[in-house]
Amino acid sequence: MSKNVLVMEGDGIGPEIIREARKVLERVNELDNLDLEFTEAMLGGRAYDKHGHPYPEETREKARAADAILFGSVGGPQWDGKTERHLRPEAGLLDIRSDLDLFANLRPAITFAQLADASPLKPELVAGLDILIVRELTGGIYFGEPRGIRTLENGERQGYNTDVYSESEIRRIGKVAFEAAQKRGKKVCSVDKANVMEVTVLWREVMDELAKDYPDVELTHMYVDNAAMQLVVNPKQFDVIVTGNLFGDILSDEASMLTGSIGMLPSASLNEGNQGFYEPSHGSAPDIAGQNIANPLATIMSAAMMLRYSLGAGAAADRVEAAVSNVLDQGLRTGDIMSEGMTKVSTSEMGDAVVAAL
Ligand code: NAD
Ligand code: IPM
Ligand code: MN
Repeated sequence: MSKNVLVMEGDGIGPEIIREARKVLERVNELDNLDLEFTEAMLGGRAYDKHGHPYPEETREKARAADAILFGSVGGPQWDGKTERHLRPEAGLLDIRSDLDLFANLRPAITFAQLADASPLKPELVAGLDILIVRELTGGIYFGEPRGIRTLENGERQGYNTDVYSESEIRRIGKVAFEAAQKRGKKVCSVDKANVMEVTVLWREVMDELAKDYPDVELTHMYVDNAAMQLVVNPKQFDVIVTGNLFGDILSDEASMLTGSIGMLPSASLNEGNQGFYEPSHGSAPDIAGQNIANPLATIMSAAMMLRYSLGAGAAADRVEAAVSNVLDQGLRTGDIMSEGMTKVSTSEMGDAVVAAL
């Protein structure tokens, strides 16, 4: 039976990186007879400009019907401060995450041997690094109510958000982390701020309870400020990191630099069904949009995650990841991962090279 892949470019570099990932998917579709069908929809700032909403009804319908979604990135200065919060490009992304209940965001930070010297950290600190960040994606302070900006009695304005997690939300993301750890290094580090915030006191308690069901996995806890430091001092101490929405956002950008560039960090966002949403962890990079210089590899590797997690095509996923490693062996580098003696290529040249290596 054919599988329906919804492709959404988004804003900024979105169209450029998605074009390359789609080329790769279309090529493995042919090579491995995957029977993938592609459809398109709009999400983000350009969707707002065209349809008056960053997550238009038509996109919602297509998204619900899709087996998997490949997405670029949203946002840009042209929409900043010009629209109400719920109509911002980023609100469209938060909407679709919530609408499809994509609570489990997997962000693997893997340092390719060829890129150990592309990281600003010493090569020996990052060579061989393989961390999985499991970020809760549909709760916490991103979605908690009440929220807003209000005017106090003295006339001063006050901004406020609410960080909130229920036991069931903590348990379901914890399970994802423990089950992932069972298949890899058997260690989970839960990152919180339980020395200050009640919401994470409960987070820690629920993780401890859950750990009893996974005696083969070692659970540790770490405060987020220390975790931010440990990630640059001794990143290889980590196997799976599980954390809430905001801390996961920040720590994953930090971890991306261990791999050489934010342009190397893919992601998968999964719900309790088999549906998945695949996007690079980075944003729409307005500073380099339209120049054909963005690194498409995070998006291409997100497509590989899609093949593995939503399309039952693990062998094709392995093949894409091997092709990425192959182009790095050839010395091909976009600007963000460029180093001495390597060959600088554009976004589309990098995509073409991956397709050729398949
Ligand atoms: P960003 O990730 O877009 O860019 C940060 C820096 O990394 C920039 O210098 C950019 O050029 C560089 N960069 C990012 N991706 C790259 C790639 N593939 N290749 C080479 N360099 C790359 O973050 P930002 O500048 O804070 O945000 C820009 C816009 O993107 C904002 O509107 C923000 O809200 C949005 N954003 C969207 C997502 C998403 O769609 N998931 C994620 C983060 C930020
Ligand atoms: C990400 C982005 C988003 C987030 C924004 C654009 C809403 O930074 O995917 O990491 O904060 O989750
Ligand atoms: Mn982010």
